[in-house]
Amino acid sequence: MNLEELLHDKLAPALEAVAGHPVDPAVRASPHADFQSGAALALARELGRPPREIAAEVAAAADLAGIADVTVSGPGFLNLTLTDELIDRSLRAAAADSRLGVAVERKPERIVIDYSGPNVAKEMHVGHLRSTIIGDALARTYDWLGHEVVRVNHLGDWGTPFGMLIEHLLDTATSDDGHSIGDLTAFYQAARSKFDGDDDFRTRSRLRVVALQSGDPLSRELWRKLVTQSERYFLDVYQRLGVTLGPDDFAGESRYQDDLAGVVAGLTAQGLLVESDGALCAFPPGFTGRDGAPLPLIVRKADGGFGYAATDLAAVRHRVGKLAADRMLYVVGTPQRVHFQMVLAVARQAGWLPDSAHAEHIGFGSILGADGKMLKTRAGDTVKLADLLDEAESRATAPEIAISAIKYADLSGDRRGDYTFDWDRMLAITGNTGPYLQMAYARICSIFWKTDRGPGVVTVGEPAERDLALALLGFEPAVRAAAALAEPHRLAGYLHGLAATFSTFYEKCPVLKAGDQVRDSRLGLADLTARTLHTGMFLLGIEAPEQI
Ligand code: ARG
Repeated sequence: MNLEELLHDKLAPALEAVAGHPVDPAVRASPHADFQSGAALALARELGRPPREIAAEVAAAADLAGIADVTVSGPGFLNLTLTDELIDRSLRAAAADSRLGVAVERKPERIVIDYSGPNVAKEMHVGHLRSTIIGDALARTYDWLGHEVVRVNHLGDWGTPFGMLIEHLLDTATSDDGHSIGDLTAFYQAARSKFDGDDDFRTRSRLRVVALQSGDPLSRELWRKLVTQSERYFLDVYQRLGVTLGPDDFAGESRYQDDLAGVVAGLTAQGLLVESDGALCAFPPGFTGRDGAPLPLIVRKADGGFGYAATDLAAVRHRVGKLAADRMLYVVGTPQRVHFQMVLAVARQAGWLPDSAHAEHIGFGSILGADGKMLKTRAGDTVKLADLLDEAESRATAPEIAISAIKYADLSGDRRGDYTFDWDRMLAITGNTGPYLQMAYARICSIFWKTDRGPGVVTVGEPAERDLALALLGFEPAVRAAAALAEPHRLAGYLHGLAATFSTFYEKCPVLKAGDQVRDSRLGLADLTARTLHTGMFLLGIEAPEQI
């Protein structure tokens, strides 16, 4: 049940009658009443009348019988206090519905979410962690709201490094097990240092790239082997993280190789490419560097190889054309913001991205260490995801608590900001943390172990009951806001507030010791709180064990 929407719909006609045109009632939850509208204040100047007078007129004209009491307050706010009857009715409807009263999207969209995107034969690092966690929360949320979600894992599985990796694989081949990769990072580093220090190896690597790109069977086979091994490792990380990305979601850069020549041909035919120092570049209008010069998007490099941007352009075409995406989201760190803006601008110029398809870069900030700089190991290396997960598990009592703590710490702040990675803070059982939510959920579950009564029909009475009821009814707006803005922290913040409100209710209102009817109603509130927490945590990808 979306009470803001209900009040909006009731106030809108009254406002329109007074103003002579449609006016947004701008109904918001408020500490001064249940909800508040400041629309009369906004209208005052236009109508040249005192805002309180306008507010009084709107209050008199609005049909709020059985829904809310309305008063004019302060300079001209409309304070709306819901009737207990409406609250009871709304809660009962939510309780009777497995979706807690949140209707499935009437106009579902096909939403392609590009997230995780690690690079083959390289360790995943913490930047991929953020993409994986945020992208997965969004995928779960859109899914649950009834959209058709297509998860795309745009693996870095192509390009010049594969020349050296394959050559190194051939060099290290042992007679019994064929080709051994072992520790991927060490493998990559060994190949890299040979590449940097050995002319012969470097030459072989370059030739190998050419062979791979022209489809040489042995090169392809060895490349496949590297990719498969990496995919296995990534899937293992996804499983540990409890994210919904699976083997079918891999759609790496290599998938688009056959389309790249077409991308260049298409852009050339439309006069969108300019040669610059031997490279073919697009210059979408409005993008300039620090010196004011137009910024190039390199589509084909001077050596004839295709760049990262060419692949992303081919991917846009594929997602619009083949996947029929209504919406495309790129969950990638902020440093790639301009890249995506330029890719999307060029795709639009080329007619590959129609106005009907919405595309957006969902950026996020960095994870910082205690020193306020990018998170590094003590030795100054980038932190490997697997090591981080190992450490989390060794610090907490149970893996589902540790992993959830990391995920929740990532999801609970505005994704655009940086955040400091702090074990003590994220594992704390107080504050806006994963363990706090898990404790709150488990605590409610434990109430039901002590009684054979089930949840009864809710009738709110005490202020603490009413507060909890209103918090419960805030679930739908929170989920919708998280979805509309692609901001999981809206939902996280809501869940934390709900858990805190429950805790106050539980201090003030005895449940099992209350008289029969009140007890059953309070059990009803407790049950709905547990279900709301459970659903919300599920949407964020946070486990909700019944017992901790
Ligand atoms: N592999 C890239 C990286 O590690 C991320 C891929 C993001 N997705 C995309 N369509 N470019 O930075």
